[in-house]
Amino acid sequence: MNLTVIDHPLARHSLTVLRDATTDPQDFRNAAKRLTYALVMEATNRIPLRKLEIETPLEMTAGYALGDVVAVAVLRAGLGLLDAVLELIPDVKVGFAGVQRDEATALPQEYYAKMPPMEGASVLVLEPMLATGGSLSWACGKVKDSGAEDITALCVVTAPDGVTRMYEDHPDVRIVAAAHDRELNDKFYIVPGLGDMGDRLFGTL
Ligand code: URA
Repeated sequence: MNLTVIDHPLARHSLTVLRDATTDPQDFRNAAKRLTYALVMEATNRIPLRKLEIETPLEMTAGYALGDVVAVAVLRAGLGLLDAVLELIPDVKVGFAGVQRDEATALPQEYYAKMPPMEGASVLVLEPMLATGGSLSWACGKVKDSGAEDITALCVVTAPDGVTRMYEDHPDVRIVAAAHDRELNDKFYIVPGLGDMGDRLFGTL
């Protein structure tokens, strides 16, 4: 299983704020941002660096520059992770992927996609709730169609069904999450979970 669950006291604290049903949208967005810092640090711990020579006020020394990084936010909940990514990686290029469930076929249906070039880049796919895995699998297919080879998914909470689906469809994609929860309920919500991430971020409950 290509899943890393981060284990850090600050991440656990932020996740608790997100899970708490009494947290209002403003505090929810702030906690999502703080948690994303921890997810990004873990997700980028293997990305390639380019070595370069720089001059300190005292002498020449070795420095390092980040290679190309692309983030793809899966709409709309992925937007809740984007600000932290932009802060930590100011040169990041950003794509957007909009998918909804076709009620007749239950298959993922694209309604928006705008991708930057991805050849040679480290790609972070922002999909906070990995429930059935349909949207993330679709989004990873889209970024592969755009040339991505090195893909890490950033999730807040995963469920066993979603992780299994990803392992079947995209075994090469690494998943970094803050929690791996018990199961899905009959409405495909993750339990214990945190509810509908998009609704809680944007106050559309
Ligand atoms: N999407 C959400 O926002 N929450 C879930 O629990 C599952 C999917």
